[in-house]
Amino acid sequence: MLPVVLLSHRGPATFRRTRSGLTLKRGAGGLVTALMGLAEHLDDAVWVCAAASPADALIAFEHEGHSIEIGFSPELHVVEEDDTAVGPSVNVRYVEVDKHRHSQFYTQIANPLLWFVQHGLYGLANDPEFTADTHKAYEDGYVVVNEQFADAVVEEVERVGGRAVVMLQDYHFYLVGNSVRARCPDAIISHFVHIPWPGPDGWRVLPVQMRDGMLRGLLGCDVVAFHTRRSARNFLSCAQEMLDLSVDFQAMTVTVPTSRGGTRKVAARWYPISVDVESVEKLAASEEVAAHRQVIEQLHLNDGHRLIVRVDRTDPSKNIVRGFRAFGLMLDQHPDLRGQVTFLASLMPSRQDVPEYADYLAQVGAVVAEVNARHHGEGWQPIDIRLQEDLAFAVASYQLADVLVVNAVNDGMNLVAKEAVLANSRDGVLLLSENTGAHDELGDFALTVHPFDLQQQADAMYEALTMDRADRAKMLAAAADRVTKNDVGQWLRNQLSDLEGLID
Ligand code: G6P
Repeated sequence: MLPVVLLSHRGPATFRRTRSGLTLKRGAGGLVTALMGLAEHLDDAVWVCAAASPADALIAFEHEGHSIEIGFSPELHVVEEDDTAVGPSVNVRYVEVDKHRHSQFYTQIANPLLWFVQHGLYGLANDPEFTADTHKAYEDGYVVVNEQFADAVVEEVERVGGRAVVMLQDYHFYLVGNSVRARCPDAIISHFVHIPWPGPDGWRVLPVQMRDGMLRGLLGCDVVAFHTRRSARNFLSCAQEMLDLSVDFQAMTVTVPTSRGGTRKVAARWYPISVDVESVEKLAASEEVAAHRQVIEQLHLNDGHRLIVRVDRTDPSKNIVRGFRAFGLMLDQHPDLRGQVTFLASLMPSRQDVPEYADYLAQVGAVVAEVNARHHGEGWQPIDIRLQEDLAFAVASYQLADVLVVNAVNDGMNLVAKEAVLANSRDGVLLLSENTGAHDELGDFALTVHPFDLQQQADAMYEALTMDRADRAKMLAAAADRVTKNDVGQWLRNQLSDLEGLID
């Protein structure tokens, strides 16, 4: 295998300056976990990411743009040159981005604009509106930040002699592939898009220079990968309709003209991401999770009470507000369930510097207050929300769920669904939106929900709560089996073996 250069906006670890010195905290999110699995299995890899804290930026400065070796076990640590017993580790290169440019890139373009377009979140009657400020944020923010990261990737590829596998990640970096291709012709470049890829009509919401620029950027790669076949096909349709390129839906390729007058083929592929089964099971068996479980049981599971659970970032794509409305509707229509079932939601505040996200969190608060006020009874509060990022608590709630709600408007994959079916120990029923990537694998073992149909969601909650235990057990076991067989290791192996096939 050639050396690998990975790029993602969030890195595996962030430095924090505390009174006792520098400490390392793991980067947030399932993507980082999956990439850590990848990095652990590679002997020669460097992971380029954004400096996410002032301490990261200082470290980047002190290392003059070189990477730092970070060991993963027993806990995160910097590997010093004279360390002898080195476990799994990865070289991390932090890129410091000017604060204002980073805000244009992240807070104006990547989130909300790209995120909203790709998840189909705009109503279009009033939003979005592109002003001179948006165009400036694109040119001075998104484009310039992409160039800065492309420079870092190119340096890393050149450091290993120009032959490397470059694995770019997600919607933050659509322009990097083409830029690396122009400067590193011998590199093998893939770009993994972890969020849904809509068809051409969805993309027409963006001004032409933005949408065509991003598509051309991706077409600089050898492989553009997604979690689902639907996204991969949409990508090819975009190349066909927006850039008038020739595509082959059998071979799943698009033919792209080169600067030298020839052509090259770009493949669209899909590899459904998954979770690290072993680490979910290890955490599920921990004392920390047991302690949370005890507390949740005491609070919500006395006298045959039941529990509906959700775990999400407070992101408009997750459809949290409609989920609570549907729960309120179910209580209206089945008053016998009042006092008998609680909706426990662990919600991680996310991207609060983006106004759309701050507004959404406020809407979540309002609907919870409304449903709780309408239905509360003696000693019973229908919805218990926890605004927190606590994986151990989340896993305890997965274990105890009678119903797990994943009703996303759209979701590239949704790893909560996969973690929950692995951890659950009460024959819980998964309610799964048909618009999640996870539905392709788990839809047969879940109750499918339509993200906009409140009545159908309310009916599905009721059905799950009243379903025969043996049927529930069968569905859960089949879902857990599917996740176990297609874990994150499989996701990594499939990609790496396809990329190796491109090395000549
Ligand atoms: C999604 C994206 C990731 C992102 C994560 C957390 O899973 O696909 O690229 O890192 O959300 O979002 P944040 O903006 O906090 O990095």
